[in-house]
Amino acid sequence: MAEETWKDPREGVEIPKKKIVVLVSGGGTNLQALIDAQNRGELGGGKITCVISSRPDAYALTRAKNNGIPARVLRPKDFPSTEAYSDAMLEALYEEFADLIVQAGFMTILDAKICRAYPNRIMNVHPALIPSFCGKGYYGLHVHEAVLEKGVKVTGATVHFVNEICDGGPIILQKPVAVQQGDTPEVLQKRVMEQAEWKILPEAVRLFCEGKLRVKGNQVIIKQ
Ligand code: GAR
Repeated sequence: MAEETWKDPREGVEIPKKKIVVLVSGGGTNLQALIDAQNRGELGGGKITCVISSRPDAYALTRAKNNGIPARVLRPKDFPSTEAYSDAMLEALYEEFADLIVQAGFMTILDAKICRAYPNRIMNVHPALIPSFCGKGYYGLHVHEAVLEKGVKVTGATVHFVNEICDGGPIILQKPVAVQQGDTPEVLQKRVMEQAEWKILPEAVRLFCEGKLRVKGNQVIIKQ
């Protein structure tokens, strides 16, 4: 298949689109937000070229299929260790010529060699305002349960680059969301997704694909 190109408005020249590989494990609503943004022409110089799921039954795979996006399944339990799984993942990413890797609800721990191979080229969406409610054990619905238990009035979502520290990489975008009285974890999760995750993830991907992100120490500088 011929490589898609994109005319960089700053340079005025046609360049190949960046290849985006999306890692998923579940429902894939964040993947859908990326697909919808791509269909609206809002991913700029990027194209989703592959979806890799850690689970064969993830609905995210159906979303990929419905949109003609090639998909692979890499199941952790088919590998003897995190290291062996990460080696297989690295191999797949090389085969796909990934320019950007997006963890969109990807629930499997990867070895640090993946971050070292793709420094500031792996993004993750987290359903809270980092550094609150993040790190080991904070994933999916557990995050919203912890938010409600703590009684905070504001939560939100974060998109950050992935480094060797769990949820500790440079923050690209964040968006706050109000916690409302009577919220259940499920209700709050839906609000955080709708009002924050599905907006800031495609936006961060667009900024990356337009070459507008620079990382300085732990700070991400966004070119206006
Ligand atoms: C999303 O809320 C995402 O932020 C979260 O899992 C959900 C996946 O939903 N990710 C994490 O908690 C990672 N620490 P999705 O499959 O519908 O996109």
